[in-house]
Amino acid sequence: MERRDFLSIASTAAGAALMVAPAMAATKKKRPDFLWGTAGAAYQVEGGNIASDLWVMEHVTPPLFADKSGDACDVYHRYEGDIALAASLGFNTHRFGIEWARIEPERGQISDAGLSYYRSVLETCRRHGMKAVVTLSHFTVPRWVAATGGFTDPANVRAFAAHCARIVDALGDLIHLAITFNEPNLATVVRWSGLSEKYRPYIEAAQKAAGVAQNAPAWSSPMLAGERQYDGIVAAHSKALEAMRTAKARFPIGLSLAIPADTAAGGDDRGLKRKQADMLDRWLAAPGDFVGIQTYTGGEVGPDADMPPAPGTEVTQMGYAFTPAAIEGAIRLVATRTDRPLYVTENGVATEDDSRRIAYIDGAVAGVERCLADGIDLRGYIHWSLLDNWEWVAGYRPKFGLVAIEPKTFRRLPKPSAHHLGKIAKRGGLG
Ligand code: BGC
Repeated sequence: MERRDFLSIASTAAGAALMVAPAMAATKKKRPDFLWGTAGAAYQVEGGNIASDLWVMEHVTPPLFADKSGDACDVYHRYEGDIALAASLGFNTHRFGIEWARIEPERGQISDAGLSYYRSVLETCRRHGMKAVVTLSHFTVPRWVAATGGFTDPANVRAFAAHCARIVDALGDLIHLAITFNEPNLATVVRWSGLSEKYRPYIEAAQKAAGVAQNAPAWSSPMLAGERQYDGIVAAHSKALEAMRTAKARFPIGLSLAIPADTAAGGDDRGLKRKQADMLDRWLAAPGDFVGIQTYTGGEVGPDADMPPAPGTEVTQMGYAFTPAAIEGAIRLVATRTDRPLYVTENGVATEDDSRRIAYIDGAVAGVERCLADGIDLRGYIHWSLLDNWEWVAGYRPKFGLVAIEPKTFRRLPKPSAHHLGKIAKRGGLG
């Protein structure tokens, strides 16, 4: 039932007394374990991840990226304040990434300082009563992994599994949920958008230039390799899962997937069906304890590609249609294809106009509540992102954050949307 309909029934005396009470019990069920949080990725916020492959890719010419990540949000030094801020706003969950290159800057060389850094981050989460959702690979890998071909090299697949087991040994007691790979299916979504072909020559030139700079002819940054590393990534995920279980991980482990919520253009759903199968089947068939859903938009799909947003559509700073309802569509789509528990591990909007972010949040959370009311096993809503941060090729222009960063001082400036979503989190829903 729509909230609007619910309110109109509730305003009649008979409805309030008879029909509404059971409906209310169903929709307002207390969910103390539901995760309400924000998400970030190590490379996008920590700053100075110089041992990672993307640092190399950022420094080739001609540049692929609008800005260099540089100091990013300096989360590396400021995580304590950020976690305290997120907790004080009302969130119970903090999703962050562990940068593999900080733990293993060269093949087989383990940094105890790197491990102890992430232990401090996790302890800070615990001190503030925040559940820690950890991403083990959020688009970046150590340089030495890219240097030998990324996940096309079986030695790197094994190294990732060993790294994940190491994380369980050193940090597992403080982890609530772990994502092995963030959006490993993104290249498929990008292919359907028509952008892969457009950018392919530039990306290939940049990969080649990075290989020359590193004296590594096999160089391939997984994030920019299109769909070519998929087999290796599935193998790395599966082996990591196995290694983590052998290391006695006591938390759920899964993949998070990019899932736009689309519709068929012109009533012909053949393209839509193919796109959904392309972007989901192989990943939902991979082993795991849950599925992470990451949705920003949705649009119409034609026979072979996405259609551009219709003229007059409100678009975000990313050029996506402004679609708060997309997350509900994505949750429902995945729920028909898996029995695993679901988490929204990313959802958000890039805008300078924070009132549109608030509208987006309200629309998204209303959809989440409808899914819960329908009995879908959804266990969390994690918003992208706590901070305005480095948005990959788009640099620092898109503003996804609930909190702005003052240039140079790195001072955190919470926006009205931070308080708005924080209150929803504290209340456990729109109320
Ligand atoms: C990624 C994030 C990214 C966000 C917004 C997701 O695809 O996981 O790293 O910043 O979308 O574009």
